[in-house]
Amino acid sequence: MHRLDKSNLPRHLAVIMDGNGRWAKQQMLKRIVGHQKGVETVRLIVEECSKLEIGYLTLFAFSAENWLRPKTEVKALMALLKKFVRSELDRMMNNNIRFNVIGNRAELPADIDGEIGAAIEQTAGNTGMVLTLALSYGGRQEIAGAARKIAQEVAAGTISPDEIDETTFPRYLYTATMPEPDFLIRTSGEMRISNFLLWQLAYTELYFSEVNWPDFDKKELYKAFRHYQSRERRFGKTSDQLRAGMLPG
Ligand code: FPP
Repeated sequence: MHRLDKSNLPRHLAVIMDGNGRWAKQQMLKRIVGHQKGVETVRLIVEECSKLEIGYLTLFAFSAENWLRPKTEVKALMALLKKFVRSELDRMMNNNIRFNVIGNRAELPADIDGEIGAAIEQTAGNTGMVLTLALSYGGRQEIAGAARKIAQEVAAGTISPDEIDETTFPRYLYTATMPEPDFLIRTSGEMRISNFLLWQLAYTELYFSEVNWPDFDKKELYKAFRHYQSRERRFGKTSDQLRAGMLPG
């Protein structure tokens, strides 16, 4: 097992934290216990990524479609979320982490949205890792929302349709100020994107771990990063072109 090359880590890591329910079922526990254990993994991974000086960590914590889960589970997830934002604030301040949320915040309960707003504000001056939670987030909704904003601006005459291309469009996404993810990890063996960061993942390296999120740990994270380091990112070019590009002159 070779060591991690600290100079070749993703600048932006995105994670689909899946398998809390299955983990709980395997242990004959209630689903919510799986989510509670999942929060512990969130803490651990945030700390590790921050130590490794990852620039951006984006976690899919609650999808736009998750509202359709049983009411008790939605309520429990919201309660965990509130507790998490509150209890992590000190740690985020100590670790110079800037907190951020993407998704439709208007759909979140007002008290949680308040906690989120306060955490975003308090950590706004931090200069270390940007920790983004995707909450009530859907990639298609995000893209449709961006198209709507652009249409409104065109109607108002502030931009012209000719200006809309693949460089201007993402300025209307939630992630306007972030680089695109270099690496996506999804746990629990499912091989889907599930409406996460659809636009932003165009050139992202994808990695699927068999481990359920509550069991994902530092060892698994390092394993994933070693896989990342073994990949050649070509962005549509050939290997030879990339190698030529690396030669001096
Ligand atoms: C997937 O497990 C996980 C989620 C629905 C959301 C992830 C939530 C957490 C880790 C806890 C809350 C997070 C924070 C940041 C406070 P699943 O229920 O889909 O698992 P299953 O597919 O095995 O049923």
